[in-house]
Amino acid sequence: MRVLLTGGSGFIGSHIALLLLERGFDVVILDSYANSSPNVINRINTYLDKNDLRYKIEIINGDIRDKKIIDNIFLESIKQSKNIDIVIHLAGLKSVSESLNNPLHYWDVNVLGTLNLLLTMKEYECYSLVFSSSATIYGLSDSVPISEDHKISPINPYGETKVAIEKMFFDLYNSNTNLWKICSLRYFNPVGAHPSGVIGEDPVGTPNNLFPFLTQVAIGRQKLLNVFGDDWDTKDGSGIRDYIHIIDLAEGHLASIDYLNSKESCLEFINLGSGNGYSVFQIITQFESSIGCQIPFSIQSRREGDVAKCYADISKAKKLLGWTPKRTLDQICLDGWNWQIKNPNGYR
Ligand code: NAD
Ligand code: UFG
Repeated sequence: MRVLLTGGSGFIGSHIALLLLERGFDVVILDSYANSSPNVINRINTYLDKNDLRYKIEIINGDIRDKKIIDNIFLESIKQSKNIDIVIHLAGLKSVSESLNNPLHYWDVNVLGTLNLLLTMKEYECYSLVFSSSATIYGLSDSVPISEDHKISPINPYGETKVAIEKMFFDLYNSNTNLWKICSLRYFNPVGAHPSGVIGEDPVGTPNNLFPFLTQVAIGRQKLLNVFGDDWDTKDGSGIRDYIHIIDLAEGHLASIDYLNSKESCLEFINLGSGNGYSVFQIITQFESSIGCQIPFSIQSRREGDVAKCYADISKAKKLLGWTPKRTLDQICLDGWNWQIKNPNGYR
């Protein structure tokens, strides 16, 4: 089976790519390297070679906004009699702050990029899609756990682009309910790394997110962790989130492929999280105990746009996809740390 994976050299895409290749899928990656390194692909190849796995990977360096490039991928596949059977679409921009400063860029890359892709898929009669949506579309609600029918009310342009894309799916599916098979997966907080330490999260500049910041404090790249608020309405006053091991998240995509293959047509919006909420202080304590270190931290005021609690109701994913997250918070800390210690400067 041939999969087009857009954004396949990014944090999430690289883990999905590795799993797909390990399981015998033929993978075409389209990535502009706007927020990733070409080294990722070398890492994946080396890992698979070392494990004596035979695999089929093709890399296209290109922009999702360039319709000719996407067109060419489908055309070449047909010429080689290896049609693209399914698309996993992750290429896009994900920084909330950047989206506030440059909203048009976010609409351009995320929305127009997806529109290009859908137009081309339609042209080449490829109707199966797994998409990377986000829990950010649920906005500022604290009512947890969050299920898929929760109100959609994003509070930043990044979130708005994900909602617009989901609306596009809705219209497209309803235009012919016998044709399209789409899973829009709403990720919560993907963290950790592949247990081998060959691939992981490598943010550019100072990390905005808790986990990469934490591992950089542990390795000495950052002095201390800023805890954004100890006065939230939670047990210990710090913010609660749903951290899901990146391999569990990647496995959710494989389960989605199986699901789409079992259907004549469908459109499903599905939460992918661990289903558990952990506070910032709980994360610090677990990380310290998992890797045996002390994390210096300082309490700061609340970060704008944060909520007290956000974690997923994952019963739909369990029921529909037959998927369940398997890895513990301890495993997340160990694998995230393993990646950081083996790659103190990421892919550089
Ligand atoms: P990432 O930045 O590591 O990966 C995105 C990839 O897309 C990168 O390799 C980047 O180079 C590529 N890309 C960006 N613009 C492109 C363009 N115009 N053309 C082609 N390629 C382009 O991010 P990630 O964490 O792996 O996220 C992947 C997807 O999942 C994104 O769409 C993101 O919005 C979504 N998501 C991520 C999270 C998270 O916490 N990481 C949460 C929810 C949803
Ligand atoms: N936090 C700190 N210090 C830090 C970073 C974060 O205390 O240095 C706290 C935050 O206040 C929050 C928790 O740690 O309580 C998690 O914060 P992250 O930035 O790691 O994650 P968020 O849940 O805020 O946001 C992430 C992505 C969003 C996405 C959302 C839901 O950054 O784009 O998950 O998927 F929308």
